[in-house]
Amino acid sequence: MRKILLELFVCPRCLPREVPLRAAMVREDGQGIESAVLGCPACGGEFPVVEGTAYLLPEVRPLDTASPYAEPAVRSSYLWSQFADILGDAPNTAYTEWTHLLGRSASLALDCGCAAGRLTLAMGAFSELAIGVDRSPPLIIAARTLLRSGRLDFGLVVEGEITEPRTIVLPESVGRSRTEFIVADVLRLPFPGSTFSLLASMNVLDKVSDPLLHLLEVNRTAQTSAARLLFSDPFSWSPAVAPRERWLGGMTRGRFAGRGLDNVRRLLQGEHGLIGPPWRIETAGETDWTIRTHANHMERIRSQFLAATR
Ligand SMILES: C[S@@+](CC[C@H](N)C(=O)[O-])C[C@H]1O[C@@H](n2cnc3c(N)ncnc32)[C@H](O)[C@@H]1O
Repeated sequence: MRKILLELFVCPRCLPREVPLRAAMVREDGQGIESAVLGCPACGGEFPVVEGTAYLLPEVRPLDTASPYAEPAVRSSYLWSQFADILGDAPNTAYTEWTHLLGRSASLALDCGCAAGRLTLAMGAFSELAIGVDRSPPLIIAARTLLRSGRLDFGLVVEGEITEPRTIVLPESVGRSRTEFIVADVLRLPFPGSTFSLLASMNVLDKVSDPLLHLLEVNRTAQTSAARLLFSDPFSWSPAVAPRERWLGGMTRGRFAGRGLDNVRRLLQGEHGLIGPPWRIETAGETDWTIRTHANHMERIRSQFLAATR
């Protein structure tokens, strides 16, 4: 992990108070910090850096082993979904489209819920530093392997427990030298306010237990001016993920009745008085992408996006 990240981290447990973390027991290797303990002087919380990966989850139990995203089959699905074109298996235009929508040249960039980091790596090509955050350690470890070595061997699920060995080899054009990945929660981002000039929240809103809190965190950590945001989601609301009263759409009554995209647009534009300074919506549209469960099962997903600036 690059040392510069130490200057950015705040305690995810103490938010909304922004308490900088202090590093102890720091061990470095040629790539930066290999291990350390990041401590919060206010709450006494300790967050480890292990094999170059920072674990900044707010809860006391640090590793997200209970999450469905920790399953090897889910890792296989997301790796294929993000890198199918690079694997030579299927054309996958979604990430190219989204990369075009991100615009150009950012200082610090943040990819919320980055999975194995396909879009973060693209952001690293035109940012001073792009940081991908995800709650899933297996996905962040996969992203970091790609970052360090430019390739990743994994077992692609064929059927049931049968997998076939596959290798992702990144093209030279991706921004490996200016990308970082950490394990963190998009509901409690471990960064101070007004940090990022470019932010992506792609297909994560309907995966979190408190979608409004995620948007508030995106808004808090975005610069108050000269900032760009790319948001997308398929709005697959599920009570198993978030209680209905927290959905930002898909309801026939209540504060967020109607379609998710319309409600997110209004929130970003400053309606409800929750988000500000208001964002200006530059483009809206939809992008199809595919997730593969096994050789005979692929799901086509349509994500609706908003590109915004302020
Ligand atoms: C549908 S995937 C989207 C991945 C990526 N943004 C993309 O569009 O290719 C959702 C991702 O969000 C992550 N995630 C879910 N809840 C999260 C949370 N509270 N904090 C951080 N990441 C989370 C999952 O681990 C998963 O990698």
